[in-house]
Amino acid sequence: MHFKVSPSKVKDAKVTVPGDKSVSHRSLMLGSIASGRTDVSGFLAGEDCLQTLAAMRALGVSIEQPGPTEISIDGVGLHGLKSSATALDLGNSGTAMRLMAGLLSGQVFDSVLTGDASLTGRPMGRIITPLSQMGAAIDSQNGKPPLRINGSSELLAIDYELPIASAQVKSAILLAGLYANGTTRVIEPAVTRDHTERMLRSMGVQVTSQGHRISIEGGQALKGCRVEVPADLSSAAFVILAALLAENADIVIANVGVNPTRTGVIDILQSMGADISLKNSRRLGDEPVADIRVRSSELHGRSVDPAVVSLAIDEFPVLFVAAAAATGSTVFSGIGELRVKESDRIAAMAEGMRKLGITVDESPDGAVVHGGDFTGGTVESFGDHRVAMSLAVAGTIADGEVFVRNVEAVDTSFPGFCSCMASIGADIQAIEEGSA
Ligand code: S3P
Repeated sequence: MHFKVSPSKVKDAKVTVPGDKSVSHRSLMLGSIASGRTDVSGFLAGEDCLQTLAAMRALGVSIEQPGPTEISIDGVGLHGLKSSATALDLGNSGTAMRLMAGLLSGQVFDSVLTGDASLTGRPMGRIITPLSQMGAAIDSQNGKPPLRINGSSELLAIDYELPIASAQVKSAILLAGLYANGTTRVIEPAVTRDHTERMLRSMGVQVTSQGHRISIEGGQALKGCRVEVPADLSSAAFVILAALLAENADIVIANVGVNPTRTGVIDILQSMGADISLKNSRRLGDEPVADIRVRSSELHGRSVDPAVVSLAIDEFPVLFVAAAAATGSTVFSGIGELRVKESDRIAAMAEGMRKLGITVDESPDGAVVHGGDFTGGTVESFGDHRVAMSLAVAGTIADGEVFVRNVEAVDTSFPGFCSCMASIGADIQAIEEGSA
């Protein structure tokens, strides 16, 4: 499947986007090892989270789906998971693989974790090292999946200084820490998304966060609870950008998660001149949410502070598009992690935007994007959902049609992307193979 994007007239509208991917994954994993029921609303029924749902079922957890975005988990308690007869296929999801590896390290049975072509190319050494120090035995293919996890009932608590800022690695260690003897401490080089810590607390677990240090004592039981998943800011970012780049648009996106460990994209865009404001700020369970109002704005290039990278880690593809539409040049640095996401996002975005007439200078851990005008053309998504959606947003202001090739992966995080974008007036059509 491809996207055919035509120059669009984005209009005033109030829209919603699907539930937060990170929170949805965690609701499944934590709800499964809690005792009692966890009822989840606003769940993201995208492919990534559905793979996690299938994996938890394969581990013996009964999970019902009473509605498209509702799930009900009958938690089995900390020690109630059962061995899966087959390998757990986690599809495209790095979050699922890394967090599950932490969870399964503390089980008395062995598990095999695998995934699609993108996931089996991604680095797992970052979790294998700490989880092995805790006492799990993990076999990999030179640090890449499939992973065979030989869990241990006698994990040891560790003090671990993360070499990279990664919420996935932090969460994997905290989940293993639940099964360890003693207090596990993680020290992050920069603050990363804290959804695991918040949800654990909602389920009655004591987790201490002091600046960049997070501690958890092993053996604490989780109690099932209600989880209301906010709309995903990472998905809202595509709507935000389409509105900013349009002429005279005024869009409101309702009920979006604005956890401060995620809002780097708003800060960066505002620093470029974006008119974005938060309305009706409130809490939804353990997460802050707000309605986000966006009005068309003239953006200006700038140097993006590397200190905020971990707070906007998934939004750099769409920020590259913002930079291309801005006056002057925008300097991104300290974003080397983008090279090991679902694709090499620096290379993928640089190639796509160059094909659409934009000048991009790449470096190993950054890029300079020079403002310009998007032309029409055909670009590749490299099977990466966020690259596909970012290039589609670029197409809405291009001076000709833009074809984005191989966009199936969009369903991993943003089912209904085209209809959501259509509701604000963006003309992005999904077309079948051979039509581009
Ligand atoms: C995620 C953490 C981030 C992010 C990913 C989701 C999570 O990965 O890129 O999409 O849910 O913990 P890293 O922690 O590896 O940067």
